[in-house]
Amino acid sequence: MPFTPDSELDLLFPAELISLEVKNQLHQDVHVRPLAATDYRRGHLDVLSVLTVVTDPGEEAWVAQFHAMRALPLTYYMIVMVDKNTDVIIGVGTVFIERKFLRGLGSVGHIEDIAVDKKQQGKKLGLRIIQVLTGLSENSGCYKTILNCSNDNIPFYQKCGYVQKENEMAKYA
Ligand code: ACO
Repeated sequence: MPFTPDSELDLLFPAELISLEVKNQLHQDVHVRPLAATDYRRGHLDVLSVLTVVTDPGEEAWVAQFHAMRALPLTYYMIVMVDKNTDVIIGVGTVFIERKFLRGLGSVGHIEDIAVDKKQQGKKLGLRIIQVLTGLSENSGCYKTILNCSNDNIPFYQKCGYVQKENEMAKYA
């Protein structure tokens, strides 16, 4: 598939919010942009399945979820890395902005669902995804950006400038 420029896409949030500094550090074959309404067809779920079990809901339900997220402005920032040669997604990441009453009505950015296609790992794509998401969180006024990860991924996040703090608790339904 030929590369689709941002101007031809229906995006989750304005592309101008993505750090130009990080964009300029990407390989010329790689483009970073917000998730688009047609990204189901560009392998979005295939890349997510590198992270965990993904059940394909079908395109119609996927698009409905996209619109449900976009209906909540200033909350969901999902980005994708696209291979410009194929128009296929090779990396994904999300930061979700949580509003609070404490810290002077402060906000916290929650980084979620980071994944890079297996064949593309080790090329700094993960690092660039975290840099873009951290920028989106900080530019949204968040006083901190946090995430949960496995012990194996701690060194990766340390390379991205994150430090280990406290513990994660979970209760699965
Ligand atoms: N252990 C040690 N160092 C690591 C690891 C690791 N597991 N992963 C990356 N690094 C280092 C790299 O060597 C590199 O170091 P350098 O700057 O000294 O060369 C630096 O971290 C940046 O690495 P990238 O090349 O940007 O990493 P990559 O593009 O491969 O992405 C990622 C890393 C996202 C963890 C990828 O391996 C992946 O998709 N893994 C499977 C899914 C996953 O575990 N996602 C994270 C879940 S946690 C969450 O979503 C909040």
